[in-house]
Amino acid sequence: MREYDLIADWYANDRGGSVGVAEALAVAAMLPAHSRILDVGCGNGVPITEALVNAGHRVIGLDSSAGMIARFRANLPGTPVVRGDARASPFADNSFDAAISWGMMFHLPRRDQASVFASVSRVLKQGAPFLFTAAEIDSADDAGITGTMNGVTFHYYAVASYRTLTMEFDLTLIDIHDDPGVSTYYLTRKSS
Ligand SMILES: C[S@@+](CC[C@H](N)C(=O)[O-])C[C@H]1O[C@@H](n2cnc3c(N)ncnc32)[C@H](O)[C@@H]1O
Repeated sequence: MREYDLIADWYANDRGGSVGVAEALAVAAMLPAHSRILDVGCGNGVPITEALVNAGHRVIGLDSSAGMIARFRANLPGTPVVRGDARASPFADNSFDAAISWGMMFHLPRRDQASVFASVSRVLKQGAPFLFTAAEIDSADDAGITGTMNGVTFHYYAVASYRTLTMEFDLTLIDIHDDPGVSTYYLTRKSS
């Protein structure tokens, strides 16, 4: 995402080192050691990718921003990262034990979120968990809400029912956890 090339330095300072870590580690704890995890919209890799790596898993980052990937490589030199679009994952079918996406989906309109679900579902093994965050609201229409971050405009979209949308892509919604004012976490599992 081009905007993140412009704000990569600001983001590194503003992100904070704890948000999302407990939730990511809860997913990590469901898995056998050395599981293969895809971090979708991994950003600079801190703190989510880093926490998963430190938990003993093989993590691969995917992000569309060259600036964020450059910082990822500096932060986590031993961890692979791929520049690409989450709507068209470049990885093989059924090749990941889990996927996590913190703070990416809300940048995308509904049709693009559906493409991400299709793309992530395709690369997950059967039964694999996928944890993502999305907008906290559940009643916005497709016009979404416009916000700004460090002077860059973003469009935040909500999806009325993630349970329905994810099911279209064989991702069964098994838990919703709200961190008020921060994120809503959706835990799904690849069903077939
Ligand atoms: C709010 S940041 C979150 C970064 C990281 N997950 C974290 O926890 O700090 C959103 C990230 O999603 C990436 N992104 C946005 N749209 C994307 C897309 N379609 N494909 C891949 N990455 C995308 C951005 O480049 C940015 O690095």
